[in-house]
Amino acid sequence: MAVLRVVHPLDPDPQVLEEAGQCLRSGGLVAFPTETVYGLGADATNAKAVARVFTAKGRPATDPLIVHVADLASVSSLVTSWPEAADRLAQAFWPGPMTVVLPRSSLIGDLVTAGLGTVGIRMPAHPVALALIRAARVPIAAPSANLFSRPSPTRASHVVDDLGDAIDIVLDAGSCAIGVESTVVDLTSDPPAVLRPGGIALERLRMVLPGIATFTGQVSSSSPQHAPGMLTRHYAPRTPLTLFEGDERAVLARMAHDVRRLLSQRRAVVVLATSEDRRALPEPKAGTTDLLRFVDLGSARNPDGIATHLYRALRQCDAACADRILASQLRSGGGLADAVRDRLRRASAGEIVNCWDD
Ligand code: TXA
Ligand code: MG
Repeated sequence: MAVLRVVHPLDPDPQVLEEAGQCLRSGGLVAFPTETVYGLGADATNAKAVARVFTAKGRPATDPLIVHVADLASVSSLVTSWPEAADRLAQAFWPGPMTVVLPRSSLIGDLVTAGLGTVGIRMPAHPVALALIRAARVPIAAPSANLFSRPSPTRASHVVDDLGDAIDIVLDAGSCAIGVESTVVDLTSDPPAVLRPGGIALERLRMVLPGIATFTGQVSSSSPQHAPGMLTRHYAPRTPLTLFEGDERAVLARMAHDVRRLLSQRRAVVVLATSEDRRALPEPKAGTTDLLRFVDLGSARNPDGIATHLYRALRQCDAACADRILASQLRSGGGLADAVRDRLRRASAGEIVNCWDD
């Protein structure tokens, strides 16, 4: 079982960090908080340690890991080019929830990058993550610290639930502020392209790189990955989740209909919705209330707040042990709404009901 070490999020105990850094240097696995989600760290230059990460998570070897650094000077040994766009993005968003994909150097092995010629690099903003990387004195390969395809962990307890038996140390510094993973930007393509929407909103990226391209493909259960590791079924609860997208009135009418139908079949249902949508849905009929639970995403007016609690909400949905989760998609935009929409689509594994007003 992993050793759990509680640390102060802003001022972690140097002795605990030294112990965790030593563990990483000797090939161990340390889960640590970042501003996005908890990461599962290993020495990125140690193939055996990196292999343990894949085994612990049950992650396919085709899904590349992000390498985490604590300063810009460390990047030069990891990549073979550092274009001007990288400089501009790093100036604007590092330390922070952004990963850049660049051609990799020979210091980074095939396992880390799933055999690709490129590597994703990120400088996280969490003081504990930065202090841990410095204490380790090696670059840290770290995927999210969850079992493969499950919702990412935003609290240490999520890490322990998923990986407690498979890793060495968990640094617990409370919950993560942003709640969705970093935005991944491919700087090897022309123009640069967002491979994964995340903690830096597109409108902010555009202020730095106006020509940046985005992936807008529809997710369906049969569509291929648009980027390595961006599987259709990802971040998913174990309970099947149906996502309702479209116009407000049509979505609410269809959800209300489906909830009633499932309850009349004595199926247990979780409704995952914004506070506004929840209020607009009818109360269940008497005699069926025991079968229905609501999990609140928070106000639609605050997409960043929804991002913060999204993965916890997905885990709460699972804990209800229902037959099905019915979720309504965010309709308003701005901030981290794109990232939330992307994660909800993946959580649905492509089971999306489109609802339009006639
Ligand atoms: O916020 C985050 O990015 C968190 C924290 C722990 O830093 N990490 C994270 O890692 O989300 P992970 O392994 O769950 O997701 C990494 C994803 C891959 O699945 C892939 O989509 C993309 O980053 N990625 C990594 N290296 C890449 C590469 N060389 N080319 C294209 N995509 C890459
Ligand atoms: Mg992940």
